[in-house]
Amino acid sequence: MKTVITFGTFDVFHVGHVNILQRASALGDTLIVGVSTDELNFSKKQRYPVYKQRDRMKIVNGLRYVNYCFYEESLEKKREYILKYDADILVMGDDWKGRFDEFKDICEVVYLERTPSVSTTQIIEIISSDDD
Ligand code: CTP
Repeated sequence: MKTVITFGTFDVFHVGHVNILQRASALGDTLIVGVSTDELNFSKKQRYPVYKQRDRMKIVNGLRYVNYCFYEESLEKKREYILKYDADILVMGDDWKGRFDEFKDICEVVYLERTPSVSTTQIIEIISSDDD
């Protein structure tokens, strides 16, 4: 039995998010997702996500590919989370390529290709430009 873990904000949920979760789940038997908290996003980007963490969690948790979700409260706790959930494989989009190789001592690290031409930032920009 293989456990896969991945992390993300999953704000303004889009098809790129579904694709990576679907492909991550296909690599193992159980998929666990760390959904970053509102505060973690604020500390990283100086803005809060559009959707609050409870709603982002509910959306991700509602997908058939996802077995369990938890809040990722700190970027520094990745090792702790991987060990806590006994993950065999860490999956990240290839925008993070190489950045998580430090965890190869405790699990397999797989970078999956991002879905082209869609991102939360781009969707927010399109919606806000409609307001002008
Ligand atoms: N992802 C993907 N393909 C996309 C967008 C995201 O595979 N087109 C993946 C990311 O690589 C990550 C996960 O989905 O592993 C969650 O990404 P997140 O940062 O929440 O979404 P983005 O749309 O990339 O958001 P932003 O534009 O704010 O960076």
